[in-house]
Amino acid sequence: MNLKELLRDVDDAEGPGLPSVSASDGQAGDAELVSISAGNAEDVLTKHVSRLTKAADDGRIVGGNDTSIQAVPYQVYILLQKGNDYFQCGGSIINKRNILTAAHCLTDIQKAYVRAGSTDSNDGGQQYESRALIQHPMYNPTTSDYDVGIIKLLKPIKLDGTTTKAVKLAPKNSKVEPGTDILVSGWGTTSENGNTSTNLMSVIVPVVSNQDCSKSYSGITSRMFCAGVAGKDSCQGDSGGPAVSNSDKVQRGIVSFGIGCAREGYPGVYTRVAAVRSWIDLNSLI
Ligand code: ARG
Repeated sequence: MNLKELLRDVDDAEGPGLPSVSASDGQAGDAELVSISAGNAEDVLTKHVSRLTKAADDGRIVGGNDTSIQAVPYQVYILLQKGNDYFQCGGSIINKRNILTAAHCLTDIQKAYVRAGSTDSNDGGQQYESRALIQHPMYNPTTSDYDVGIIKLLKPIKLDGTTTKAVKLAPKNSKVEPGTDILVSGWGTTSENGNTSTNLMSVIVPVVSNQDCSKSYSGITSRMFCAGVAGKDSCQGDSGGPAVSNSDKVQRGIVSFGIGCAREGYPGVYTRVAAVRSWIDLNSLI
């Protein structure tokens, strides 16, 4: 089967599955994505692709734990096609036809493939193809301001309520108090410059005030909030994924950027959902 046939098969549960992603660049900054590193499309799309493995992979997300899709049923795995390259991001289910992610995940991307309802990034659940990719019109790739995007799906997701479920979004202009416990999940690297995880991971991190966060990063805007402590963070490949308040599972943030991962004094930076809520609502109606 050639690449096109394989990709067309993406809605078929018996299909070959999404290409596998491994390794990462792990650079700091706003727009880096984890890239797939197999040689050619045939290799990449083979279900049992041999993954590049690096030593010392004792972390999770970074500093978190294995979780399952039932714990975060709104989480999806996204594979993004940029020419012959593939990148991974996370996302969340807003409704049957729309996936929330980061704008930076969608730059120069032709097509997105979404796996919903699976703990394993390589297998299971349901697979969907994008119909349209939308970045917030105010998204600024230099500053990462308004780092929010929407993937519109060709076919509606089957929401079964246990492995696939729409997330509740933070009300417009609502606040998250510093110290609030945030649950972040994804298949990103389990350490800075480490490997991505095939098993879904999650970690709980406290919100840091924008004032404190501005001591670490210049250019923290009201469309951003920070969360993290040394040793616990999201990391490369988690981008676009959901950050919910742990007490009520309302999505407050979208994984956006950070300097390194889990470094002391450098919390992760998240897009503030409450600040872009009107745009999300307007663009996820159909
Ligand atoms: N920009 C990264 C990505 O594309 C996410 C980085 C999150 N970094 C952090 N330290 N929390 O996957």
